[in-house]
Amino acid sequence: MEPGLTLPSGGLPSAELPSPAVAEQLLLDAEAINPGGWVTHSRYVALAARCIAERHPDLDPERMHTLGLLHDIGRRTGPNKDRHILDGYDFLTALGYTDVARIALTHSFVIPDLDTLQGAWDGTPVELACLGDLLAAVELSEEDRLLQLCDMLAVAEGFCTVQERVVDVALRYTVNERTTEKWRAQLALKAHFDRVCGVNIYRLLPGLVERLLA
Ligand SMILES: [Fe+2]
Repeated sequence: MEPGLTLPSGGLPSAELPSPAVAEQLLLDAEAINPGGWVTHSRYVALAARCIAERHPDLDPERMHTLGLLHDIGRRTGPNKDRHILDGYDFLTALGYTDVARIALTHSFVIPDLDTLQGAWDGTPVELACLGDLLAAVELSEEDRLLQLCDMLAVAEGFCTVQERVVDVALRYTVNERTTEKWRAQLALKAHFDRVCGVNIYRLLPGLVERLLA
């Protein structure tokens, strides 16, 4: 099986998630600390997750929306780069929101390997080692996988294709020797959700197909 194609069962119901209203407030508070395009990106990711989950046999749309809103909440300590992954995990874990903390941790790791991060690590070596330990202990769920995909379906300005997004990330973070492997895994992820949902998931994102055909 190719990297990135292990797809365990869907996410389990859990109370370890803020209400939609609390999630919205956490995002607004973070925006006040560190405003930027990451906030609108997060809103589009949340909407993509909701729209795809509505067609998915096992996932809950409202839960996925909340997970999407908060996946990048580690940007509250920014401007930052990949350190936002660990900062988001720590922030949400401290609040007791362990399910969304897991999403903050896994959303950038379509291949769960630190070497696939693009660009220089902007935390300490100890923090990087901590991130590696956390990642090694995680088993990716269908919820993790959908958020990984949705993170690739939105930039600050709106919905995009996976191909458009990989170029966006490459230009902001650079590439390394694992990047093409990661791109294959990201495209495989999109094909997985197309198959499970029985539709090209681009058609589920409001306005995307119309923009591509314009
Ligand atoms: Fe994101």
